[in-house]
Amino acid sequence: MGRLKDLRAMVDAELNRMENPDKRISAANHLYGVSLAATMIARRRGLDPELAAMAAMLHDLHAYKTGSYDDHAHRGAELARKILADLGQTDERETDLICSAVYHHDDKLVVDGPMDEVLKDADVIHHCMNDLSKAVKDKEKARFEALCAEFGM
Ligand SMILES: [Fe+2]
Ligand SMILES: [Fe+2]
Repeated sequence: MGRLKDLRAMVDAELNRMENPDKRISAANHLYGVSLAATMIARRRGLDPELAAMAAMLHDLHAYKTGSYDDHAHRGAELARKILADLGQTDERETDLICSAVYHHDDKLVVDGPMDEVLKDADVIHHCMNDLSKAVKDKEKARFEALCAEFGM
């Protein structure tokens, strides 16, 4: 098994502990949707698509585990580090890249490192394109428009 598959099995196990089946489905839908978007964006920008997909699988897990979005990006980065240590298939540089992306993913109005930006953009793609009938949130408008221009959508 590849390490993305192994990580997904660990994330799935965490999601399966969620009691509310609707929330569990929506959590899985979001993590896998952001993961696919992150893969595509990273590939387009010449970054590592596997690391991007791994960061995406972890990015909101703290919120799903605890039921709270309070500081979930920063706390989620700590959780990601623990899970990656258990996974044991990333080196220090890869672990830092993934945890940094998770840490910064809620800071949508500022620009961080290239891999951090892949995760933010993938999150926005899923928020905006999972259901095109929904209005784009104000705080995501600029980023979504930039993505549409970049990808010719
Ligand atoms: Fe988030
Ligand atoms: Fe998210």
